[in-house]
Amino acid sequence: MNAPFLQPKYNLTQHDTWERLYCRQRDMLDDKAAKLYLENLDGMESMTESSVPRVSKMSAELKRATGWGLEIVPGLIPVDDFFFLLASRRFCTSTWIRRPEQLDYLEEPDMFHDTFGHVPPLMNADFAVFMQRFGEIGMALQGRDDLVVKLQRLYWFFVEFGFVEEDGLPMAFGAGIMSSYGETQHAWNLRSDLRKFTLDGIMSTPFTTTEIQTGYFLIENIPEVIREMNEWFSNL
Ligand SMILES: [Fe+2]
Repeated sequence: MNAPFLQPKYNLTQHDTWERLYCRQRDMLDDKAAKLYLENLDGMESMTESSVPRVSKMSAELKRATGWGLEIVPGLIPVDDFFFLLASRRFCTSTWIRRPEQLDYLEEPDMFHDTFGHVPPLMNADFAVFMQRFGEIGMALQGRDDLVVKLQRLYWFFVEFGFVEEDGLPMAFGAGIMSSYGETQHAWNLRSDLRKFTLDGIMSTPFTTTEIQTGYFLIENIPEVIREMNEWFSNL
């Protein structure tokens, strides 16, 4: 799949919306987000609060860090295309920015979610390996819908809404939390009641995309998640 989509130029309102989202969320995350996320966010030169970032620059920065890149997509894409991109170390992002009155609610992810939420963890070597392997396994399971659903649950409860343990404490991590002011507050209030990661536990827990989360999982160790995912796949 090639990328025929180009990133538009943005107007002042859109740059201002980005800055408001970035600053408000960075502030909120200061004592709640995992270092795994926050240190990578703060270290990025291509994504700052000042203006809507350019996808090509973020892609180049990711490439230097972990060999990942970004691909512009018009919106949600078929799951097989998504797995293919991940397997080739490419993450997809939309380029539209929510309207000012949509600061707190979105029906579909915009560029703030796709980049502010998802890009910083891809600067981490372990997470980068996890995401690529996840894509490879997804591709191998093409057509096995019952198994793909289980993989999607892993993505949901780890990549989108996971907590990770750092220095013995549960810290918020998933992109769905990182990119949402309301979700961060909600998730943080439930942090004393997290479910400990087991692959079985995650893969047997359904999720809904239309309601706020009622429970979150705590991941202690990313290499361990990779190991268990590989073991699950090789035993199918
Ligand atoms: Fe996402």
